[in-house]
Amino acid sequence: MANVIIVGAQWGDEGKGKVVDIYTEYANDVVRYQGGNNAGHTLVVGNEKTVLHLIPSGILHEGKRCIIGNGVVLDPKVILEEIDKLKKKGYLKNDSQLVIDANVHIIMPYHKAIDIARESNSGSRKIGTTGRGIGPTYEDKIGRRGIRFIDLLRPEIFARKVKELLPEKNFILEKMLGCAALDEQALIDEYVAYGQQLGKYLGSSSKLLNQSIKEKKNILFEGAQGSLLDVDHGTYPYVTSSSTIAGGACTGSGVGPRFIDAVVGISKAYVTRVGEGPFPTELTDEMGEKLRQAGQEFGATTGRPRRCGWFDAGALREAVRTNGLTGLAITKMDVLNDLETIKICTAYSYRGEMLEDFPQDLEVLKECKPVYEEIDGWNCELSGATSFETLPQKAQDYLRKLEQVTGCPVVLVSIGPRRSETIQIINPFN
Ligand code: IMP
Repeated sequence: MANVIIVGAQWGDEGKGKVVDIYTEYANDVVRYQGGNNAGHTLVVGNEKTVLHLIPSGILHEGKRCIIGNGVVLDPKVILEEIDKLKKKGYLKNDSQLVIDANVHIIMPYHKAIDIARESNSGSRKIGTTGRGIGPTYEDKIGRRGIRFIDLLRPEIFARKVKELLPEKNFILEKMLGCAALDEQALIDEYVAYGQQLGKYLGSSSKLLNQSIKEKKNILFEGAQGSLLDVDHGTYPYVTSSSTIAGGACTGSGVGPRFIDAVVGISKAYVTRVGEGPFPTELTDEMGEKLRQAGQEFGATTGRPRRCGWFDAGALREAVRTNGLTGLAITKMDVLNDLETIKICTAYSYRGEMLEDFPQDLEVLKECKPVYEEIDGWNCELSGATSFETLPQKAQDYLRKLEQVTGCPVVLVSIGPRRSETIQIINPFN
């Protein structure tokens, strides 16, 4: 038995969906534990592309149970659309394959309206959020005025809560943010109807997972976003509003830390970031554009072009430490196929001083210049490789270099979008 957490080791979009999809083979339960539909996983099965924002990608595997843990924030309209899309494609034949925890917080229309209005009103201080209402929903959760999934299933309680909360939200929307107020009854009617459709998925993430642990079944915890977007450990305030690091898997699902056996960090062979915030290795030149085009670096959720740059070892070491990573999965190696040389940032220069660690202080980080080590590219296709040893020598050298500068072993390498284009070096479930 093994329980494995998958986390993004950078600023999100590391290709977690594909790795989760592969690891799902070894798991009985797949759990999302934080974030909401700000995430987006593009999965390629055969020649078919499926984009999922909320439902764990394990849903594409028959017989695997997918759980939306208590730490997630849920937009009921979005999950209903996803369920519909999956059913039309022949997935989710059995409704018991999907469980939504009773304590999941609901993203309400005012959360989305506030998120979007605040961003458009904040000029140079904007975060570059996905506009999905994530931050305002977590604010209400921590402020103890949130609405949970269980409330949505009890029309009278739901209506009472909306009636209590909406005057304040409408005041903020109208008087402070210059937006239209929301209609109370229309909101109640719309959301009660969503609740009626989603009721059959109600369950307890903590109870089900701990029962699985007793039965010695395997659990895969699927993190969303990335470690540098963690609300505590990321590049605050340019972060998302949840605990994206491995620790979040325990609070966000109701499983104790002693049951976690491995933590795999997913990292691209280079770096991308969407939204605002410091990014020391960002390439704003032709090379950045080349990576963007070769890696098709456009957001799965918002379609925004992603900022691209060289691999940042200091940032990765940060993720190794805060997550306690036991292994790294390196994705999108093939994007670097036709490069003569590849750069890796191993330290930072700050006002003439050399810094080894990724600075915690945003004011310092903003001024840091990357210090690069240049290594030879492999400059050829990787498509025929089926094991670490059959990769071109220079690609092997690049991976060994990443292990050396991050202090973490590489357990998986992805050399293309298909399931078959994956090299497993160590299986974390064994
Ligand atoms: P929010 O999560 O919508 O509040 O956005 C906060 C920050 O996190 C912004 O910089 C977003 O671009 C970023 N972000 C949120 N979700 C993702 C994701 O799934 N991938 C990459 N960046 C994300």
